[in-house]
Amino acid sequence: MKESQGKTVYLRDYQPPAYLIDETHLVVRLFEDRTLVHARLAMRRNPDASPESGRELVLNGANMELQKLTVDGRELAANDYTVSGETLTVSKVPDKFTVECDTLIKPQENSTLEGLYKSRRMFCTQCEAEGFRKITYYLDRPDVLSSFTTRIEADKAKYPVLLSNGNNIDSGDLEDGRHFATWEDPFKKPSYLFALVAGDLESVDSSFTTCSGREVQLRIFVESKDLDKCDFAMGALKRSMRWDEEVYGREYDLDIFMIVAVDDFNMGAMENKGLNIFNSSCVLANPATSTDQAFQRIESIVGHEYFHNWSGNRVTCRDWFQLSLKEGFTVYRDSEFSADMGSRAVNRIEDVSMLRTVQFAEDAGPMAHSVRPESYMEISNFYTVTIYEKGAEVVRMQANLLGPELFRKGTDRYFDNFDGMAVTTEDFVSTMEEVSGLDLGQFRRWYSQAGTPKLECSGSYDAGAQTFTLTIRQSCPPTPGHPEKDPFYIPVRVGLLDEYGKPVSLHMAGREHGEDIVLHLAEPSQDFVFEKVASRPVPALLRGFSAPVRLSYPFARDDLMLLMQFEKDGFVRWEAAQQLALQVINDLMDSRQKGNKKEVDQRLVTAYESVLELALGDAGIDKAMVAHLLLLPTEAYLAEIAAEVDVDGIHEVREFLRRFLAEQLEMKFLAVYEACLSGADYVYTADESARRSLQNTVLNYLASLDKPEHWQRVRQQYERANNMTDSSAALRALVNNPSAGSAMMRDELLAHFYEKWQHETLVVEQWLLMQSAAMVPDNLPQVVKLMAHPAFDIRNPNKVRSVIGAFCFNNAVSFHKLDGTGYEFLADQVITLNGINPQIASRLLTPLTRWKKYGQERQSLMQQALRRILAAPDLSPDVYEVVSKSLN
Ligand code: BES
Ligand code: ZN
Repeated sequence: MKESQGKTVYLRDYQPPAYLIDETHLVVRLFEDRTLVHARLAMRRNPDASPESGRELVLNGANMELQKLTVDGRELAANDYTVSGETLTVSKVPDKFTVECDTLIKPQENSTLEGLYKSRRMFCTQCEAEGFRKITYYLDRPDVLSSFTTRIEADKAKYPVLLSNGNNIDSGDLEDGRHFATWEDPFKKPSYLFALVAGDLESVDSSFTTCSGREVQLRIFVESKDLDKCDFAMGALKRSMRWDEEVYGREYDLDIFMIVAVDDFNMGAMENKGLNIFNSSCVLANPATSTDQAFQRIESIVGHEYFHNWSGNRVTCRDWFQLSLKEGFTVYRDSEFSADMGSRAVNRIEDVSMLRTVQFAEDAGPMAHSVRPESYMEISNFYTVTIYEKGAEVVRMQANLLGPELFRKGTDRYFDNFDGMAVTTEDFVSTMEEVSGLDLGQFRRWYSQAGTPKLECSGSYDAGAQTFTLTIRQSCPPTPGHPEKDPFYIPVRVGLLDEYGKPVSLHMAGREHGEDIVLHLAEPSQDFVFEKVASRPVPALLRGFSAPVRLSYPFARDDLMLLMQFEKDGFVRWEAAQQLALQVINDLMDSRQKGNKKEVDQRLVTAYESVLELALGDAGIDKAMVAHLLLLPTEAYLAEIAAEVDVDGIHEVREFLRRFLAEQLEMKFLAVYEACLSGADYVYTADESARRSLQNTVLNYLASLDKPEHWQRVRQQYERANNMTDSSAALRALVNNPSAGSAMMRDELLAHFYEKWQHETLVVEQWLLMQSAAMVPDNLPQVVKLMAHPAFDIRNPNKVRSVIGAFCFNNAVSFHKLDGTGYEFLADQVITLNGINPQIASRLLTPLTRWKKYGQERQSLMQQALRRILAAPDLSPDVYEVVSKSLN
């Protein structure tokens, strides 16, 4: 057991640092077999340190060899300091002093991809959250802000490009074919924002003129093979910079902004000051190799990391419990950016769909935690959908409560007041209170209480009094350590439709409110009475998904059809389609259980038919919205909302219904497919990607019919496609609709695809992923085969996610196979990866932690797999935390 394993850090123990670092001067000398780091730190006692904090200096450091340590030029003797576990303690230091420290590290052996490591032939860093301590001894915590200068020395032929944060102030040649570059970052920053890159890189360059007229150099660095994939990210970067000026009044602050693409990266991307480092899958794209989905993701991630320059870098976090301060806020900012760049309604639906399947599941599982957690063992485990997506929802609710003008006033004041500081979510909320005069006291529970609130709604219409009363009861299930919850303050945006689908003008307490009102739910149960309602209305509830809650209302199926047809709010409309399908799926699950014949309520067919007709009749319609209306609830969502997951029932019923709809509406699907086909050159625009998304959604329905004429359509699409979106969708249609008749075609096209794209890493990742994630039973042998393929590499996180992750997360029938082979497989992989890359190992574990959701047999098999992992030697804190908490 590692010493740090099992240690818990608590928010309530926070203490300001005893010492501060005003200046950090690094010299990093890179060699093939070792790297020598010299750090000179100008330090002083923190005037705000608590008086109890002693005179000793405690620095963080891990996995390195300390070669020399001096304080104010005097080399320390062995008994002046102690090194133990992950700290170095100097017994006594003055009020103001300089520490110099020489360490030796081995980035070439660092497979954790944290700290300084090698990705292919390139040196790079990942310091968030606590990676800087693997580079040198330091106060590696976000509330210690320092200016940095960094001198990098390396072999000139192998590493012609040497980068770090800020501005390049010096460079030149050294002896033995080596050279150096010195970088200076004038903005004080915590160590987690430090970055260094050395490699044989080329760049695509451009520039941006800020709102105050300053010219900023923009450079995207890649290996030369990827120079043809940078243009889209460059455009996205410029759009982000302009958007932050226009929407938040935030201007970029350095003279240069750099992005580097690396192939081996644990996360998507990292916002290091002036030098963002990106997983190549999140920045590189061109139409031949990338899907619309990839373009969309790249735009939002480039935006996200850029927006951190203000929400995260200029104003940073006091401690890691405040992580959502930067991540939740920045996800909110990037999702608004995406909404402004494309279709707002569709963006919202996609965000909500992700939140409801993934975050709600986390909130209901053993790792549930609040947006501002109270404790953690390993901070890397807390970069979660709760911190990110729920955190973004909590910011969104505040933005909606304040309205655009006051929210902007609030963010302006937040950025101005806290510029250059390390602050808390409380500072954010109280700023919003100050500018608006609102009392957000009860609202703060969104930060402190975990769990997804449940709203049970009912409506009653009184024809005599012409009133409609909406009753809403809220509750929140217990989460680990928190059995009881106080009521939340929940904004519920609603409207009413009349029997013809027309909006009703809303009257409450004698006042008129237009067609839309935000109900403020603060009590465990409240009645909201609408007056002057001439006939029984259909309520449109939670417009825009105004709060991250589970809402139920006993809708009649006809009401859902009316909402699908007439409701203006995209989320409510889509949700009506999901609810209608859900009711039908529940019918079918019932029949399946009772052994009755499966009968499908014809109203679902009618509803889908009207949607298809809409797509054919109205040229101006948002085709991406149509595509979403035609998607059945995913298996993951069906599992999430089930009390006990019936893995095989869900798969069987959903597949049955998908085929049934395709059979019933074959000609309509075909007509829409043909109407969507286009011979035009590929462009990535909102309209064009919407068209392709509808085309490929209906193609998947057609392919579910076991018919040669549709297989030929799929082949034709594959062969004629002039872009990756259409060719990969054709392949997926074959992979996800297995049939004896199309198996040969599937194998032929998969082989052809690999042959054609084997030299494009990102395309090969997609090829692996679609095969691993294929929604078919008994896919494990295929996955094992893919792991033996030369393209697979267990040390590369993207490959691990494409093969192992895709199988365990997206292929429920195979992963949860009743013989337990899926669980055993995952346990084996986690144990292997624990020794290579603990962060990746820990993230892969998620599906096993949800064992309580399954039937007895699966429960015990899953627990067995978890216990086997727990018993493995040398468990990392990352894996230990997740396994031990989930077995509780
Ligand atoms: N700061 C994070 C990257 C990070 C996460 C570093 C965890 C260390 C540990 C970055 O800003 C981020 O949030 N990236 C996301 C993508 C984003 C669009 C949500 C990611 O990497 O997944
Ligand atoms: Zn982020």
